[in-house]
Amino acid sequence: MSDNRPIGVFDSGLGGLTVVREMQKAMPDESIVYFGDTGRVPYGTKSRDTIKLYAKQDIEFLLKNNVKAIVAACGTVSSVALPEITALPVPIEGVVVPSAIAAVRKTRNGKIGVIGTSATINSGAYRSEIKARMPEAEIFETACPLFVPIVEAGWINRDDEIAILTAKRYLAPLKEKGVDTLILGCTHFPLLSDIIGDVMGEGVTLIDTGYEAAHYVLDMLDKKGLKSDGTQSKNQFFVSDRVDDFSSMASILLGKDISDALRKASVDTL
Ligand code: DGL
Repeated sequence: MSDNRPIGVFDSGLGGLTVVREMQKAMPDESIVYFGDTGRVPYGTKSRDTIKLYAKQDIEFLLKNNVKAIVAACGTVSSVALPEITALPVPIEGVVVPSAIAAVRKTRNGKIGVIGTSATINSGAYRSEIKARMPEAEIFETACPLFVPIVEAGWINRDDEIAILTAKRYLAPLKEKGVDTLILGCTHFPLLSDIIGDVMGEGVTLIDTGYEAAHYVLDMLDKKGLKSDGTQSKNQFFVSDRVDDFSSMASILLGKDISDALRKASVDTL
C-alpha cells in the first residue's frame, strides 16, 4: 500500500527546516508541504492560548493542501498545543515524544537536560514524556530564548563569540548537574549544536529533535501504510512573510535553492 500525498510540516518560522532536512535524508521519496509562520514568529514567548490558535490555523492550512500526515516541527507547538489537538482527519506527530524516547534510550547516568523556548520549558512536556518512560530520571530544564534570535541572525559559526558566551551562560547549570544527555528541544537549536557540544563537553549526547522526529514519522508512515512510492516527490514551501529572507536561509540549511517552490501564504486565508 502507498500514498503519494505530501506530508505537511509546520513551524513558527525557518527553524522547522532542521526537521525537513532530516526528513529528506530519512525519506527522500516523500513530498513535503512546509508552512513557516515567519510573519508571527516567535511562538515561544507567546501565551498558551495564542500558541494554540496559531497551531490550529497552521494545521488548517496544511489540511487544505491535501496532506496525508502532519509534523509539528516546532518545539513550542509540540509542547504546548499538540496534547490538546485531537480528532484530526490525518495523523499528527510532534517532536517531544520521539526526543524523549531517544533521551531515555541514550542516557547512561539518568541525568537528562532539556533546553527549549520559555513556553516549552514552562509546559513541562518533555519532563512528563521522559518521566512516563523512565520514572527515576533526573531532569534539568533551562529556557534558552536568546538562542532563537541568534540563529535567526545567522550567528551560528562555531567560533561566534556571542553565541558561545550565550551558550556558556545558559548551559552552566546543566553542566554542573552532570547531565550526560541534552535534548535540543527547539527547532533552532540543532543549528547551534557545534557550539552547544563544545560547551557541554565530549561526554554529553545531544538529542536532535529533527532527526528523532524524522525517524519516528518514517516508522509511523510505514506502520500505517502511508509511505509514498516515490514517483511524484515534490516539495512546496509557504511562509507568511519575508519570502526572500526565508529563501536564502533555506538554501543554506537544505543545501539547495528552493526559490521556485516557495510562495507567500496570506495569514488572512489561514
Ligand atoms: N520554532 C520554535 C520552537 O521550536 C522556536 C522559535 C519560536 O519561538 O517561535 O520552539
